[in-house]
Amino acid sequence: MKAAQEARKNAYCCYSHFAVGAALLTEDGAVFTGCNVENAAYGECICAERTAIVKAVSEGHRGISAIAICGAPEGEEPDAPCYPCGACRQVLAEFGDADTKVILTDGVRRLGDLLPESFSL
Ligand code: THU
Repeated sequence: MKAAQEARKNAYCCYSHFAVGAALLTEDGAVFTGCNVENAAYGECICAERTAIVKAVSEGHRGISAIAICGAPEGEEPDAPCYPCGACRQVLAEFGDADTKVILTDGVRRLGDLLPESFSL
């Protein structure tokens, strides 16, 4: 969570003014962080979680065992849990499993509980 909070400082969120940070732990013990990166073309915004996942996978680390997420309006301290959006849950499911830990500011969830019966081929 500390790494997620640090990454959140880099959030580029000049449209929503909602800053999110994420830090994931891979099965081989590496940590990758990410923040949300917004765009004037709103549909091109990318979430903090997917930033971190894409960084990890593109560096050759595919298995995700845990991800910490924190988010709050810019300038405020994250307090309430920032749940990962549906798209991020699906992308997490690609590289994690039902037991992947999703660490929020108020405790830990299982990915399998956040995204039951997820789609896979
Ligand atoms: N956001 C994330 O970074 N992660 C989520 O799981 C939900 C939303 C970002 C996207 C956008 O930059 C801002 O929060 C407001 O939606």
